[in-house]
Amino acid sequence: MATSTAKTAAKTSAPAAPKGIKAPPSTAYKIIDIPETYKDVIQRYAVPGTFVGASEKESPWVPFGNNAAIRHLAFDVRHNIFSNILWIKSKGVVGTHKHRGTVVMICLEGSVRYLEYDWVATPGAFIYETPGLTHTLVTDDPNGVKLFGWLQGPLEWYDDKGNFVETSDVWWFMNHYESYCREHNIPLNKQLYL
Ligand SMILES: [Fe+2]
Repeated sequence: MATSTAKTAAKTSAPAAPKGIKAPPSTAYKIIDIPETYKDVIQRYAVPGTFVGASEKESPWVPFGNNAAIRHLAFDVRHNIFSNILWIKSKGVVGTHKHRGTVVMICLEGSVRYLEYDWVATPGAFIYETPGLTHTLVTDDPNGVKLFGWLQGPLEWYDDKGNFVETSDVWWFMNHYESYCREHNIPLNKQLYL
C-alpha cells in the first residue's frame, strides 16, 4: 500500500529540473540591482513596457460583427503590430483573410480551427501564422472561442466570392477601439499605445 501511494505521489509531483541548467540563479524574493553597461543610453532612450489589467474599464469588448468582439490590448505603430483577444461568442465564422505579416495566437477558451487545416485548437494551443497564408477561421463550439493574438502586418479580408473587401492593419484596429470609446464616453487607455 505504501509503495502504491509513493508511486502516485511521484506521478503527480513536478519533474526534476534538467541537470546542467543554472537559471534561475536565485530564489531571493526581492528586487536586485544588477550591473548595466549602457545605463545612460537606456535611461535616455528606452521606452517603458505596458500593462493592461483584466477589467473592462481598462479595455472594453468592442463588437466585431454580430457574434464576435475584440478586446484591444496593444498598438505599435512603428511595427504595425496590434494585440488583442478575439471572442467569438458561439458557433460561427470569421471570414476568409490573407496575412501580410506574422501572427502568434493562443487559444484561451473554447475551440477554434481553420477550414483549410486539419487541427483543432483548444485552451493552451499555440498557433503561428506567416505572410501569404489565406484561411477561414471557424468555431464549432457552442460556447465559441477566446483567442489571444499578437499580430504583425495587415490582414486582407475577402467575401464568399473571393472579392477583396478591406485591409485591417494597426490603424484599422486603433480606429476600431477609439471609435467605440468615443461613442460610449470611455476614456482612451494610454497603456494600449506602445
Ligand atoms: Fe489568420
